[in-house]
Amino acid sequence: MALLFTPLVLRDLRLKNRLAMSPMCQYSATEGGEVTDWHLLHYPTRALGGVGLVLVEATAVLPEGRISPFDLGIWSEDHLPGLKELARRIWEAGAVPGIQLAHAGRKAGTARPWEGGKPLGWKGVGPSPIPFAEGYPVPEPLDEAGMARVLEAFVEGAKRALRAGFLVVELHMAHGYLLSSFLSPLSNRREDAYGGSRENRMRFPLEVARAVREALPPGLPLFVRVSATDWAEGGWGLEDTLAFAERLKALGVDLLDLSSGGVVPGVKVPAAPGFQVPFADAVRKRVGMPTGAVGLLTTPEQAETILQAGSADLVLLGRVLLRDPYFPLKAAKALGAEAPVPPQYQRAF
Ligand SMILES: Cc1cc2nc3c(=O)[nH]c(=O)nc-3n(C[C@H](O)[C@H](O)[C@H](O)COP(=O)(O)O)c2cc1C
Repeated sequence: MALLFTPLVLRDLRLKNRLAMSPMCQYSATEGGEVTDWHLLHYPTRALGGVGLVLVEATAVLPEGRISPFDLGIWSEDHLPGLKELARRIWEAGAVPGIQLAHAGRKAGTARPWEGGKPLGWKGVGPSPIPFAEGYPVPEPLDEAGMARVLEAFVEGAKRALRAGFLVVELHMAHGYLLSSFLSPLSNRREDAYGGSRENRMRFPLEVARAVREALPPGLPLFVRVSATDWAEGGWGLEDTLAFAERLKALGVDLLDLSSGGVVPGVKVPAAPGFQVPFADAVRKRVGMPTGAVGLLTTPEQAETILQAGSADLVLLGRVLLRDPYFPLKAAKALGAEAPVPPQYQRAF
């Protein structure tokens, strides 16, 4: 039987299958961070296509934490009506609405990719005054008051996400953004309780995860996305990720979504089909924690094999869903599985 189309239960939440839309920035919000028609078409279309969970793109908990001026925001009550409408439409189209909460840290304030993607000169924040790359401003190191403000913003963002109707919150701790930059020794050179040893570098991300977990109702799951490795000498690696996973699991994080890279520029990423699956496999088997696999997963057979091998509980799809929203319905057919097809589409599948 195809595991891909069996439900996944996390706390009191039931996903109808094991396919999720991976969070993908659309750079299409208003400059105030509000939902636009683009989001209201883009996300529900993927929900109609059959994914069990739609994770809405990295949504900024503070205005200075946006990757670009056109990122979605969740730092103000003004964002609520648009986010409510978005969550409602995803749900009505058949998927569970989830959202990724983010702060871009020292990588904040870049132009949209199709406008060159260059830094716009915003003053970012980070663990240490080390710029991400040439051309990026030197980030302001966060002091304890600054960290408290960021933590509070993640908590407020999570509460607002719930009020908007999102049932899954994912914390973005990957790709070199703020929380990820605290983890890696390549971006964190602090000499206080938040830098130095791995224990210290994990401290702030764990504080954020704990505070957000406490703000969520016990019935709803919390996901965390990490970069399992920096792919760089002297950087964060899989052993660190396993130690971090143990701690996240202990404080009630329900699923670890394993991506990689993005912390330092110029590294060689051995991108190939399923290249990040071993990270999900290691965490699932060695820590005993539910995992999400992501990265160049493009065929139904590949996705099914990951589940059959016990490497992950959830398969996150990125670009394949941009190319083809109906990938899940086609996958169900290819695997001979039952999947609810909207009645309007039944003659097509
Ligand atoms: C246009 C685009 C935007 C992305 N934005 C995000 C994001 O907001 N948050 C995140 O964690 N990953 C982001 N990613 C990474 C994807 O979620 C995914 O991990 C990656 O594309 C690999 O999966 P794929 O090979 O299925 O596309 C983005 C990727 C793309 C292509």
